[in-house]
Amino acid sequence: EKGGYDHFMIKEIFEQPKALRDTISPRITKDGSIKLDNINITKEYIKNINKIYIVACGTAYHAGIVGKSLIEKYAKIPVLTDVASEFRYNNPFIDEKTLMIVVSQSGETADTLAALRLAKEKGARTLALCNVVGSSIAREADDVFYTWAGPEIAVASTKAYTTQVAAFIIIALYLGKLNENISDSEYNTILKEVIKLPEKVDYILNDIFKVKDIASNMMNQDDIFFIGRGIDYNVAMEGSLKLKEVSYIHSEAMAAGELKHGTLALIEEGTPVIALATQDNLYDKMISNIREVKARGGYIIAVSKEGNTSIEKSADKVIYIPDTMDDIIGILSIIPLQLISYYVALGKNCDVDKPRNLAKSVTVE
Ligand code: M6R
Repeated sequence: EKGGYDHFMIKEIFEQPKALRDTISPRITKDGSIKLDNINITKEYIKNINKIYIVACGTAYHAGIVGKSLIEKYAKIPVLTDVASEFRYNNPFIDEKTLMIVVSQSGETADTLAALRLAKEKGARTLALCNVVGSSIAREADDVFYTWAGPEIAVASTKAYTTQVAAFIIIALYLGKLNENISDSEYNTILKEVIKLPEKVDYILNDIFKVKDIASNMMNQDDIFFIGRGIDYNVAMEGSLKLKEVSYIHSEAMAAGELKHGTLALIEEGTPVIALATQDNLYDKMISNIREVKARGGYIIAVSKEGNTSIEKSADKVIYIPDTMDDIIGILSIIPLQLISYYVALGKNCDVDKPRNLAKSVTVE
């Protein structure tokens, strides 16, 4: 059942090119536009709402915060995000002019389901990004976008995350077009790049020697930090969750620009810091942040795009990922982070597929 792999987690990491293809291809027509079954959001509706809420837990929430940036950019609708276990107790401002988007691989997470129900009660339209057909969340939402990732068995979510991010890219473009806030040329250019993502993930997975080598030096660490800015920070949060979840190493993701406001004090001689630097408009700023960490003795493992070789001057190790548009690169930059978590956990003899204290589906609030 593990198809020749040692664990479901690594099998599911390697299934990502297919999962992405299955999620993306059916949504893009031959003439290059987006077609969404199970979603009946009209132009009139979208022009009349005044905000979107994205609510989810864990990894699904991390996909949601990427979704926020994309929807705000392409559809120009303000988006609020919250974790589902906080949302209902934060006096959320939800009414008929709110589109509520919930994200859930399983479709059974209790807090996310409760958030969806509350939003419906308050008159909001609800859209679910979900991986399990017929699950509670998929059944109760007004509109559903299925991530066709296939069954995800490992407790640590991998292919659900990348397909959720892909779903958000498609939804953001779709809403942008409906809302007439994105130009045809931008829409077409992004879609053309989106179609190429699965083969780029494949390319990363075909050469994991360096990532394994980096992981082999991390097993004895007590703390590992992730830093990034913009979408890189969102991906850093997911990378950090993955690492603590499967390897039990304490880890934190920090917005790189915030370091000097406190967390830089944690950096000692040799502290490993995984620095994501994929965003062109933030590259120089990120390099400065990397230097700040380096100057305090941090050991920098950078993740950047092929071609950004200047980063080698500031980082100790560099993992290169293929180039693509900055808005969608999270689908590529998370792959080495998933692999690092897996190999560190493996090296520490952790129960990779069933980390201690955790369950695949969290059906209690
Ligand atoms: O099934 P869901 O997407 O609603 O699950 C949400 C979280 O419980 C889940 O993503 C969790 O954070 C994962 N174990 C992370 O790898």
